[in-house]
Amino acid sequence: MAVTAAATGAADSAVLFRSRVLFVSGKGGTGKTSVAAGIGRLAAAQGRRTLVLELDNQRPSLTGIFGTRPTYAPVEVSKNLSIANVVWVDALGDWLEAIVNLPRVVRLIMRNHIVSVFLEATPGARDLVVLWRVMALARSYDLVVVDMPASGNAVAMLSVAHTARGLFEQGPIRRCADDLVNLYAQADTRMVLVALPEEMVVNETVETARRIGADLAPLRVPLIVLNRATPPSLSAPETTLLSALLAGPSDGLAREVLEAGRWEAELEVATAESQKRLTEELKLPVLVLPVLARGEGALRVVGQITAAMARVSSVPVDLRGGG
Ligand SMILES: Nc1ncnc2c1ncn2[C@@H]1O[C@H](COP(=O)(O)OP(=O)(O)O)[C@@H](O)[C@H]1O
Ligand SMILES: [Mg+2]
Repeated sequence: MAVTAAATGAADSAVLFRSRVLFVSGKGGTGKTSVAAGIGRLAAAQGRRTLVLELDNQRPSLTGIFGTRPTYAPVEVSKNLSIANVVWVDALGDWLEAIVNLPRVVRLIMRNHIVSVFLEATPGARDLVVLWRVMALARSYDLVVVDMPASGNAVAMLSVAHTARGLFEQGPIRRCADDLVNLYAQADTRMVLVALPEEMVVNETVETARRIGADLAPLRVPLIVLNRATPPSLSAPETTLLSALLAGPSDGLAREVLEAGRWEAELEVATAESQKRLTEELKLPVLVLPVLARGEGALRVVGQITAAMARVSSVPVDLRGGG
């Protein structure tokens, strides 16, 4: 299918890269990593010092996109754009160092299996130190885009702040949890959900957005990204003609072409319906990103996502040159 990377829909993508911390989540396989990388490239092209993060991923997906494996320490992949992988053990070491303020002591503590003790004693400790590191990194960049785990796991991870506040009245864990809740409340901290034009995925997206509202308020969800969409290309008379032809006799190649048309029409309907449901049920704008031709490399997909977002952004971008 020949598809252009034109983005449609009224949503202005500018809100995404005007953020300081942007969490990207959604059902598995919807395009979270691609969208996170796309937003990162666009923000970098606009001159914002940008960091795209994966959270403690054993096999970081960003490697396939940027050709560089993200390490705990951010690595610059192009002008204004860095990537990193927040390995939790390293984050724990940094966190301990920040609160104990004595690197030598920290190394001793870590060697004394405090890691497992700490983990057993503190629910969500892993998530908490990883998010602490995200906050620490956010101080050095204009924008940090976080490629989060899939929907439910992302909400559970971010809820660790509230859980920890219920458990600790004071101390370093409490302070970290308080900082996190403050972060969620910032106007430039946002969460975006990536969906697909499929009923099950739309259901899960609606459910996740509601859970965010209930469990993570006042964390903002400014828009939903509807990825791999098929924006309308057939006019009403064309659709009518297609139905008439499909109802009549045809064989061989003609039949195949008509069936391809039917498939295209069905995808367009699925996109329109998904967009409508997301808009109506969540009262959120939907940014529609088209399905891109199969077989294109991960970087090309990200490049086209970036271009599509740039087209519906009110902020001028110059996408020439690296980025
Ligand atoms: N709009 C799109 N059109 C075509 N392929 C896409 C699109 N968005 C993402 N992909 C591809 O789909 C696959 C899954 O995307 P990915 O970003 O890794 O999803 P997730 O992080 O949600 O698991 C990747 O191969 C990616 O290149
Ligand atoms: Mg991913």
